[in-house]
Amino acid sequence: MKKVYKVGVVGLGVVGQRLISAFQKNENTQITAVCDYNENLAKETAVECGDISYFLDYKELIQRKEIDFVYVAVPPAVHYEVVMFAFQHKKHVLCEKPLANSEEEAEAMLRGAEESGLIHAMHFPLVYEKAFATIEDLISKDSFGEIKRITLKMHFNQWPRPWQQTNWINSKKQGGFIREISPHYLQMILHFFGPVKEVKSYVDYPSNPELSEQAVIAMLSLENGVRVLIDGLAGQAENEEIAFTIHGENQSLSLLNWREVKLANKGGTWKDIKDSELVCSKGSLVEHFVKRLNNEQAFLVGFKEGLQVQRVLEQLIR
Ligand SMILES: NC(=O)c1ccc[n+]([C@@H]2O[C@H](COP(=O)([O-])OP(=O)(O)OC[C@H]3O[C@@H](n4cnc5c(N)ncnc54)[C@H](O)[C@@H]3O)[C@@H](O)[C@H]2O)c1
Repeated sequence: MKKVYKVGVVGLGVVGQRLISAFQKNENTQITAVCDYNENLAKETAVECGDISYFLDYKELIQRKEIDFVYVAVPPAVHYEVVMFAFQHKKHVLCEKPLANSEEEAEAMLRGAEESGLIHAMHFPLVYEKAFATIEDLISKDSFGEIKRITLKMHFNQWPRPWQQTNWINSKKQGGFIREISPHYLQMILHFFGPVKEVKSYVDYPSNPELSEQAVIAMLSLENGVRVLIDGLAGQAENEEIAFTIHGENQSLSLLNWREVKLANKGGTWKDIKDSELVCSKGSLVEHFVKRLNNEQAFLVGFKEGLQVQRVLEQLIR
C-alpha cells in the first residue's frame, strides 16, 4: 500500500483552492491543516476539507509534527519567510511561482533548500499540459528547424482582471503582469532553449508609484543566439490575449491563451490543433510530487530553475 502524505496548505486564495482540489483528487495526499490570516476563509476551507485543523499563523501549521510537506500559496512577497520557516522545520516544500520577490530572496531560498536536503518544487502548471509535451516532441524531432524568434504577447484590456480582487496583484512591489504572467513562459524558454545572456527592457508605470506596470517592451538574447521579443500591455481596447510563439524555419507553434495550440508549416497559415492531436501530458504536478516523495523519478521544476526565472524577471522589471 502506498504511503499517504500529509500536506499543510498556507494561503487559501484563488490558486490555493485550485491545488486543494488537486490534492483531494490524489489518493496519496491528504490535506491535514490549512492556514490563512483571513479567519473566515481559513475556517470555511477547513470545514470543506473535512473539518481539519486551521491556523491563522503559518508558523503554527508548519510546526505540526504530522505534516510531511507544505504547499505555499501566499502572495509572492510572503513566499520567502514561509518557505524558509518550512525548511528550518524539516518540511518538504511545494511553492507557487514566482519563487520569490527578489533575486536575493530566491538565492537564499535555493541555498535553504539545498542545505536542508528537502524536496523543493514549484507550481508551473503549463509544464503538466499537453502543449508543453507537444513542444518537447517537436523539438526532439527537430520539426521547428532553426528558431528564428520567440515572441511573448501579454495584452490585458484590464489589469488586474475583474476576477482578481486581491490587494497585491496591481502593486508595484509584488504584482503586475510581468511578475504574475511572464514566469510561466520564461520557465519554458529557459527549459527548452537555455540561458538568457542579455535583457533589454522598457517598462511604463502609471503616475501612482505604488501601482504595477502598464506596458513593457523587452528583448531577451539567449546564449544560443535566439532573440525573444516581449510585448506586454494593459488597458487596450481589445480583449485579453496571451500568445507564446516559437517561430521556426520549418514550422512555427503558437500557444494562445494558455491552452489553444496552433501550428504553421513553411509557407502556410496557422491551423488550430485539436486537443486529441496534442501529445499526452506528463501527468499532474501532485502525481510527480508524490513520486519524488517516494524517491521515484519525477518531473518537477525545482528552486534552481525558480531562481533562473527570477533573475530574468528582475531584469525585465528593472
Ligand atoms: N501557478 C499558477 O498558475 C498561479 C496562478 C495564480 C497565482 N499564482 C501565485 O500563487 C500565489 C497566490 O496567488 P493567489 O492568486 O491565490 O492570491 P490570493 O490573494 O487570491 O490568495 C493569497 C492568500 O494568502 C493569504 N495570505 C497572505 N499573506 C498571508 C500570511 N502572511 N499568512 C497567511 N495567509 C496569508 C491571503 O489572505 C489570501 O487568502 C502568488 O504567488 C501567485 O503569483 C500562481
